[in-house]
Amino acid sequence: MSVKREFVVFARKATTAPDFPLNDLPGKGGRMDLVARCICNALWISHDLRRDTRIHIIAYGRPNPPLCITFDGSTLRRVSPDERNIASWIRKALKAESGRKANPGITVQKRGFQELVKELEAEGKFFYVMHERGRSIDDVEIHENPVFILGDHIGLPKKEESFVERFPHEKLSLGNISYLTSQCITIIHYILDKKLRRPPPPAALS
Ligand SMILES: C[S@@+](CC[C@H](N)C(=O)[O-])C[C@H]1O[C@@H](n2cnc3c(N)ncnc32)[C@H](O)[C@@H]1O
Repeated sequence: MSVKREFVVFARKATTAPDFPLNDLPGKGGRMDLVARCICNALWISHDLRRDTRIHIIAYGRPNPPLCITFDGSTLRRVSPDERNIASWIRKALKAESGRKANPGITVQKRGFQELVKELEAEGKFFYVMHERGRSIDDVEIHENPVFILGDHIGLPKKEESFVERFPHEKLSLGNISYLTSQCITIIHYILDKKLRRPPPPAALS
């Protein structure tokens, strides 16, 4: 299945060290708990994966930033949705020698936020910068190949927001409550699922 929904999370503290401790995801992991929750909410539904979804985490923590960690629902295998398991696969992917994949659905590449945005733009994607003060998602017809860009617990740096503004984009709001990044991902999926819901076939109506 081709990718239809894509998320980019700017994670300024997420560690790029392959030996981060699984017992301290918020501290030594640099908010890797937040990262793992975002990945879970982007890709898992009950008893299945969203095969049409991909999420990119741009990790800016030490010692080797920036790294782009991508989880692709169409090819992901053997990962379970709990934070510790997701974090352990991130560790394996960070440890894997360059060119080798620890899991067919996980890649780690040496690239920053702006490089990723340029690549996605070249693929014809449309960017939605998620922000409390954007246009309401209720009033917008979502483009066919959407990329939703989210900040971490501190938000998206102004410099990166201005960079995205050079490309086809819209600033989009889920309302005036400031949600957790991982919660925003769930809400976006829910809204898109509802927008795409087809009416039941006629036989089911009787
Ligand atoms: C915890 S919030 C960051 C809050 C930070 N104080 C700020 O002003 O950006 C994390 C990210 O979730 C997204 N977000 C949170 N609430 C939102 C809302 N109501 N509408 C759209 N995006 C939201 C934004 O991308 C934000 O950068």
